[in-house]
Amino acid sequence: MGARGVFITLEGADGCGKSTQAALLETRLAALGREVVRLREPGGTAISEKVRALLLDPANEEMSPECELLLYEASRAQLTRQVIEPALARGAVVLCDRYYDSTYAYQAGGRGLDETLVRQSNVLGSCGRVPDRTLVLDLDPATAFARATSGGADRMEAEGLAFQERVRAAYLRLANEEPTRVRVVDASGAEGEVTARLLGSLEDLVPGAER
Ligand SMILES: Nc1ncnc2c1ncn2[C@@H]1O[C@H](COP(=O)(O)OP(=O)(O)OP(=O)(O)O)[C@@H](O)[C@H]1O
Ligand SMILES: [Mg+2]
Repeated sequence: MGARGVFITLEGADGCGKSTQAALLETRLAALGREVVRLREPGGTAISEKVRALLLDPANEEMSPECELLLYEASRAQLTRQVIEPALARGAVVLCDRYYDSTYAYQAGGRGLDETLVRQSNVLGSCGRVPDRTLVLDLDPATAFARATSGGADRMEAEGLAFQERVRAAYLRLANEEPTRVRVVDASGAEGEVTARLLGSLEDLVPGAER
């Protein structure tokens, strides 16, 4: 094993700016000469995108919490095996917009599914792969919710503000549990300010990121 990539995940409640920052980080990290593979969850492979459509379709409101959990894990396992592992093996920086911490925050934190069950499911869905760094974009839930729903809420976003508060609390618990991997980054302010904070939290893994 010569090349060893860097696996970075972006997390946080709906509308905190993950997708915006993923695109900005891709540009900045690619400018360092790194191959950057930017992905979003659920999705990123043909199979995973089909699962994504099932999960986000408002017509599937009868979906049980267990079914939802397993669909997220199914999508993740395919993405991990088909895209993430090969990219890391060739030395790429993998930038994933949500990964298994979302499942913990939403299914265990938000919906109240059994934590142990969700953690075990996450091990299966991620094929045992652990991100090198997880950046939690933290924003006042009311502001994030207003941003997220400005274009019309999808099924997840229709859960409301109390749900988003539970999601945020779950992310903060993870950061307490795993302070080396999980870093909370202030997501308020202008896009460029947030990007600078995120890059600062990557300097140890991607030399030059902070410049
Ligand atoms: N720093 C910022 N200041 C103001 N608005 C922002 C900022 N960053 C992102 N936005 C806007 O907020 C909205 C949500 O941002 P974005 O889609 O990146 O969030 P997200 O975390 O990916 O949301 P979701 O969880 O729903 O995918 C977008 O309309 C985006 O343009
Ligand atoms: Mg997004």
